[in-house]
Amino acid sequence: MMGMIETLLKSKWFIFLLLLLPILLIILEGFQGGFAANPVEFVQLETGKYTLLILLIVLWISPLKVLFPQAKWLKILTRHRRMIGVTSFIYALLHFTIYLLDANTIETMLENFTRPFILSGSVAFLILLLLAITSTNWMVKKLGAKRWKNLHRLVYVATFLVFLHVIAKEKSNILLTLLYFIPLTLAEGYRFYHGYVVNKEKNVTLPNYL
Ligand code: HEM
Repeated sequence: MMGMIETLLKSKWFIFLLLLLPILLIILEGFQGGFAANPVEFVQLETGKYTLLILLIVLWISPLKVLFPQAKWLKILTRHRRMIGVTSFIYALLHFTIYLLDANTIETMLENFTRPFILSGSVAFLILLLLAITSTNWMVKKLGAKRWKNLHRLVYVATFLVFLHVIAKEKSNILLTLLYFIPLTLAEGYRFYHGYVVNKEKNVTLPNYL
């Protein structure tokens, strides 16, 4: 059984399809009543939710590796990190496309663009777009590992902007939003502390995950 789970986890395509399954779920839930009141709002909220969920999953991998350095499944997931990030972008693209279709006119869009809620979401989206475009092996080679890594650190800026986006939304659930972001921030703080302070004290060169 464990062997089978490991084989499945190792398969990039399995993880990719698994992460795309929520699209089917959204459609099913939609036809079971979700589309009844306001279909645009329903799909907008659901796609936003999955963009955020997958973004949080991909961000948790590195701090979890510091906490559980021996965990085999984390090592396997690390290999899929770029692909998981791209899946998050796919949901963001759906979320953004629905917004564009709903906003309808350029005037409405430009008017909305100055709202902190839309502005923070849009900049986060542009960052995810840049990261998705540069997520291929060819791009890693072209940019060089160091520059590529620095560029991909923008994911933290995007995450902060997503935090602002979700918190600035009308009728946002502040408590739930904090529950999404605070544990991750603490875990990242610990990773930072572990990487810089602990390893420096021991005179160890900086590990690869920083
Ligand atoms: C990476 C980028 C983004 C993420 C992770 C994201 C995430 C989310 C989440 C989680 C929600 C639901 C909040 C809740 O349930 O309280 C939401 C709502 C929404 N987002 Fe985004 N978003 C992103 C980008 C954008 C962009 C670029 C736009 C439009 C320009 C946008 C427009 C909206 C709208 C209009 C809603 C509210 C739907 C409603 O209340 O009816 N988002 N977003």
